Amino acid sequence: NANLVTLLCPGGLFPTGSHEYEVFRFALAQHQDVPKLVPQVDMVDTGSSFAMTYAFCSQFSKGVYAIMGLYDRRTVNMLMSFCASLHVCFVTPSFPVQTNNQFVLQLRPQLQEPLMALLDHFYWTRFVYMYSSDSGLSVLQRILDTAAERSWQVTSVNLDTLTESAFVKLLSDMDYKKDYQIIINCELDRLNSILNLIATQRRNLKNYHYILANLGFMDLNITEFQKLAPNVTGFQLVNRSDPAVERINQDWLDFDSKDLKLARRRLRYTGALTYDGVSVMATAFQNLRRQRIDISRRGNAGECLANPPAPWGQGIDIQRALQQVRLEGLTGHVQFDERGHRTNYTLTVMELSHTGPRKIGYWNEKRGYVNTAVYRPTLEEFYGLQNRTYIVTTILEAPYMMLKKNHEQFVGNDKYEGYCAELASEIAKHVGFTYRLELVGDGKYGARDPDTKMWNGMVGELVYGQADMAVAPLTITLVREQVIDFTKPFMSLGISIMIKKPTKSKPGVFSFLDPLAYEIWMCIVFAYIGVSVVLFLVSRFSPYEWQGEDSDDEDETLPSSAPTQNQQKEKETPEHTNDFGIFNSLWFSLGAFMQQGCDISPRSLSGRIVGGVWWFFTLIIISSYTANLAAFLTVERMVSPIESAEDLAKQTEIAYGTLDGGSTKEFFRRSKIAVFEKMWSYMRSADPSVFVKSTNEGVMRVRKSKGKYAYLLESSMNEYIEQRKPCDTMKVGGNLDSKGYGVATPKGSPLRIPVNLAVLKLNEQAVLDKLKNKWWYDKGECGHKDSGRKTSALSLSNVAGVFYILIGGLGLAMLVALVEFCYKSRIESRRMKELIDAAMRSTRASGLGGENGRVVAHDFPKAGAQGLPCMSKAAGLGLSSKGM
Ligand SMILES: *[C@@H]1O[C@H](CO)[C@@H](O)[C@H](O)[C@H]1NC(C)=O
Ligand SMILES: *[C@@H]1O[C@H](CO)[C@@H](O)[C@H](O)[C@H]1NC(C)=O
Ligand SMILES: *[C@@H]1O[C@H](CO)[C@@H](O)[C@H](O)[C@H]1NC(C)=O
Repeated sequence: NANLVTLLCPGGLFPTGSHEYEVFRFALAQHQDVPKLVPQVDMVDTGSSFAMTYAFCSQFSKGVYAIMGLYDRRTVNMLMSFCASLHVCFVTPSFPVQTNNQFVLQLRPQLQEPLMALLDHFYWTRFVYMYSSDSGLSVLQRILDTAAERSWQVTSVNLDTLTESAFVKLLSDMDYKKDYQIIINCELDRLNSILNLIATQRRNLKNYHYILANLGFMDLNITEFQKLAPNVTGFQLVNRSDPAVERINQDWLDFDSKDLKLARRRLRYTGALTYDGVSVMATAFQNLRRQRIDISRRGNAGECLANPPAPWGQGIDIQRALQQVRLEGLTGHVQFDERGHRTNYTLTVMELSHTGPRKIGYWNEKRGYVNTAVYRPTLEEFYGLQNRTYIVTTILEAPYMMLKKNHEQFVGNDKYEGYCAELASEIAKHVGFTYRLELVGDGKYGARDPDTKMWNGMVGELVYGQADMAVAPLTITLVREQVIDFTKPFMSLGISIMIKKPTKSKPGVFSFLDPLAYEIWMCIVFAYIGVSVVLFLVSRFSPYEWQGEDSDDEDETLPSSAPTQNQQKEKETPEHTNDFGIFNSLWFSLGAFMQQGCDISPRSLSGRIVGGVWWFFTLIIISSYTANLAAFLTVERMVSPIESAEDLAKQTEIAYGTLDGGSTKEFFRRSKIAVFEKMWSYMRSADPSVFVKSTNEGVMRVRKSKGKYAYLLESSMNEYIEQRKPCDTMKVGGNLDSKGYGVATPKGSPLRIPVNLAVLKLNEQAVLDKLKNKWWYDKGECGHKDSGRKTSALSLSNVAGVFYILIGGLGLAMLVALVEFCYKSRIESRRMKELIDAAMRSTRASGLGGENGRVVAHDFPKAGAQGLPCMSKAAGLGLSSKGM
């Protein structure tokens, strides 16, 4: 279908030999996979209305389905009205125009919004806007509107009307008026020539800041201009670091074009837009074919100049197909809105540095301008880094920075030792510079004088350029960070509580009593006595507790050998006994309490109830005691009255305070946390004042107040003093806030980034931890930090009381035995005497003898004279001679 081939070709309207035309051809060749994309190209003077009209009409009548081309400000309106009335799409990489004509698809993104965002970012309020009428008018409109709204001072200069000499005069005018902020909005070629013209006119552009309202920042060829070190910001549409872009650029450079008169050069951004335009047309064409929409123009092709004009019937379909294309092209994401403008695109914002253009941010519709620039030291700054001796300011503060004991023998940095001295040397080693430690002149950390607004201390030395770095326990704060730069913190700390170390409570001899309170012990004693008495009483009353010898009898009742005889005998001699006399009751209760039991046990229900509840009571008490005992005996407890800030806040016995006029006091003054507010209101009103003039004074007050003063200070210092003699303070509780010490550099110092990286590296390599351990604990004077609770073996002192009781008990037993012996022998001897007297009397009358040798009053052994001493002894020892 040869007819269709010609009818469905794209048209092209380009100036002779233009870059865009070359790229158009190149792009069509690249899209060979789409068949029938044979172009119908006319070379026209885009500035001539007549030529454009003629070419447009001729292409329209030949039946192209869309035309790609360029226009300029003289022909743009004519073109647009043709497109609108004939429904022919015009795809263009030319400057964007504000129009609702959907048939003109503008590939070039609008610059108004990104430019305004940049002006906001730089806070420009007084500047010169230079423009060419092609592209600059719509932006000018926007700038003038905003200027009126925000009372900016804008000088606008139309470059089209300016001769070279007028321009040179304008430059000196701007110098004179100190108009150092300039926006230039024009096409690439003209921009190049303007910047190079400036370069020939000026020696240096140090104060100037140019914003180039052009999308081809990297297409500029301005080496001369660059040498004057101006501050230049601009936009870049094509992402040159994208490999896909670079590949097509390479293809473009290799593209064989015999009739190309221009020297080969990179694809410019207008070329990239043209390339994307062809991609859009090819994609739309494919989509239409896939949807089988018939776009062939049958019959007579339209007559362009007919009156009234006859629009092309399928024009709307084509327009819709083109507008709906989305693709990732050389100029990023290509997408059109319903007016045919680019939407959802991203522009890179660039800056001219001494090494060439570099990215400092990007702009897109969703997020506006986003600054991504990172500070990079310039070349000279970088070399300077290695060849200078940097001055590091610091402050004497143990253990961070101390003079060595024999510091007179050293010179320079060797005079000092301490955490920060070593930190500085580690940083210098990592970054690779030489430095000299110098003590801060006024011995202060750094604060701003409220009257003169001058900074003092180390911060002041950095701000006023007397030092290059501060390595000291300098807290990172907002006000300081505003005037100097801090690295990441090398040490984290917070406000903490220092109290006097409570004296260790030596375990008492009777510490085994500790697990139960003294009241409980008393109650147990009373309970024991009470139970024994009740048991005794109950046993007395209960008939079942009374027994004869029937315990033995019960077995013998069954064999009827002589039951009656036995019972009779029992009734004759009713020897009713009760086991639970008062002493046995006490013994029983004691046995039960000690969990030993005893031979006797109650037989009556009532007695057993008493025994049962007592056993139960004993069980629980003993279990509780045992459970507590382990904890009480094995841990040497440090009874600290204060464990946290809450403890401090809710008591009044122990005073507490801070350094007067320090950040800790400030912290309490500002705090909105209830506990700290409460503490602040106490501290503020306490009498005598709880604030101290120096850290030393605070520590001394803690040491001398016998535990009645707690001092609030930074945890690192607290931990350090805890390790200093006389080792009588300690840190309790966690930190109340959290902050950090950082290494500081002046704002914009080339040292900042390398030093920051060095600090992070030292942290990750655990060098910082090692340093801290070294200066806090290894060099501590109080031995190693014990881990709080010791669970060592029990010492004798823990259990001495038990031994005392054992020994006492044994001694008491011997004593009692002795008493018993004496008592018994006295009784015995008295009785003996009576017996002997009686025996004497009776032997005189008749002979008598004992029955079974038992020493009873009426049984006296026959061999009385011989057995007497032995018998009395045996009785005294409580032995029974029954078994002899
Ligand atoms: C250029 O000027 C802007 C402010 O107008 C400033 O923020 C930026 O740092 C300057 N860039 C250079 C390289 O001096
Ligand atoms: C914008 O472009 C991205 C691709 O770059 C796409 O995923 C997203 O859907 C687009 N957003 C809109 C609103 O079309
Ligand atoms: C470093 O300093 C030495 C002498 O102090 C000088 O000779 C040398 O040129 C300097 N190097 C650089 C890169 O500045």
